[in-house]
Amino acid sequence: MSQPLDIVVGVTGGIAAYKAVQVVRDLVLAGHTVRVIATESALRFVGAPTWEAISRQPLHTSLYEGVAAVRHVALGQRADVIVIAPATANTIAKLAAGMADDLLGTTVLASRAPLVLAPAMHTEMWQHPATAANIQTLRARGVSIVGPESGRLTGPDVGLGRMSEPDRIVAAVLAAGTGAAPLEPTPPRDLEGRRVLVTAGGTREPIDPVRYLGNRSSGKQGVAFALAAAARGAHVTVVAAHLDEGPAAELAAAGLATVPVETAAELAFAVQDEASAASVVIMAAAVADYTPAEVAERKIKKTERGEQLQIVLTRTRDVLGELVAHPVPGRVVVGFAAETAEDRDELVALGREKIARKPADLLVANAVGNGRGFGADDNSAVVLAASGEIVLEVSGSKRAVADAVLDRVVELLAR
Ligand code: CTP
Repeated sequence: MSQPLDIVVGVTGGIAAYKAVQVVRDLVLAGHTVRVIATESALRFVGAPTWEAISRQPLHTSLYEGVAAVRHVALGQRADVIVIAPATANTIAKLAAGMADDLLGTTVLASRAPLVLAPAMHTEMWQHPATAANIQTLRARGVSIVGPESGRLTGPDVGLGRMSEPDRIVAAVLAAGTGAAPLEPTPPRDLEGRRVLVTAGGTREPIDPVRYLGNRSSGKQGVAFALAAAARGAHVTVVAAHLDEGPAAELAAAGLATVPVETAAELAFAVQDEASAASVVIMAAAVADYTPAEVAERKIKKTERGEQLQIVLTRTRDVLGELVAHPVPGRVVVGFAAETAEDRDELVALGREKIARKPADLLVANAVGNGRGFGADDNSAVVLAASGEIVLEVSGSKRAVADAVLDRVVELLAR
C-alpha cells in the first residue's frame, strides 16, 4: 500500500450518500485515516452511527463542536486530500463561491489539499447553466471532478447525473492524494463501448496536379470531439481530411483509428464504410459542396489560358444529407453549420434552416469569418435539436464545447 493518507470525506444531502458509505469503507480498509464531515441534510439520508462505525472515527457535523481544537480549520489543514461525495448542486454552488457557512465549507477553505468532487443530481440540475458555470470555475481552480455518469436516477428517469461508482471515486481520491495523477477532470465513461465516427478537417478538391480548392477548417474542433469521446470510453474512428499540424499531432499522439481522406468523394466513401457500425456520427469536417468537373492532368499554364480562367464545378455528395435520409434507430447524427452570421439571431435562423433541410439529431451552429471560428482554440456555439429548438448554448475551449455536445448525445442515446 502507498503511504497512509489523512482523508476528509464530505457527505452532502443526496440519496447517493448511501454509495459514499462504500467509499469510506474502501478507504479505511486500504489503511487510510478517514474523517467524515456530514452536512445536516446528509444525515437525513444516512445517520451518524453508520458513518462512525464505518470510518472508525467520530463524525463531524457542526461548526460549534470542538471549538477549543479550532476544528473548523484543523480538519482541512491536516488533510492530504478532501473528497465530497455526493456533491449536490447546492454544495457545488457554495464551493464555487467560496462560502463557509458550515463545517464542510470552512474545512475546504482552510485546506491546501487537493479537492475531489463526485457530483450527483438530476440531469436538469447538472445541465443548468448555473451548475455548468460553477463546475467550470471549480475545474479552473484545479478541482478534480469524477462523473457524474449516465444511468438510472432516483426516480423512474434515466440520464446524466448519477454519482460515479465507489471504486472510481476511491481511485480518483488516491490519485489526487498521492499526487499520482494531475488534477485533471475525470470525464464520465458514458460512451463506454460505443462506436463513434468523427469527421474532422477540411477537404481539398484538386484542380490540377498542384492546385486544389480548399477551406479554412483547421480540424481542431473535430479532433477535440474525437479525444473527448475517447476519454469517455468510446471506440473512436476519425475520418481526417486535411488537418493543421497541431490537431494532426494531437490525434496521432492519442493513437485513435484514423482514415485519411483528401476529397469530399473520398470522405463520402469512408463515412459510408464506417457509419453502419457507429452509434454516433459527428460530422465536424468542412466538406466541399462543389468540386471541379474535370481535373487537369497537367499543370494549368497561364500562357495557354490567357486573362481569364473558368473552372466548372459540380455538386459533391452531401454526406450528412445521405446519413439523415436513412436514419438508423439508436444512432445519433450530429451536423455542423459554420455560418457568416452577423449575430446570434441570424445564426439561429440559418441553423434552423439547415436542420430543417438536413434533419440531423443535433446541429452545432457557430459563427465564422472576421477571425472567428477557424483555427481558433475556443469556440462558441448554439446547438439545435431536429425540431429547431435550442438545446444548448456553449462557449469555451473546443474540448469544452465537444464535451457539452457529447452530454446531449449521451442523453439522446439513453432514450
Ligand atoms: N456536409 C456533408 N457533405 C457535404 C457538405 C457538407 O456531409 N458535401 C456536412 C458538413 O460536415 C456539416 C454540414 O454538412 O456537418 C454542413 O451543412 P451544409 O448545408 O452543407 O453547410 P455548408 O457546407 O456550410 O453549405 P451551405 O452553403 O448550404 O450553408
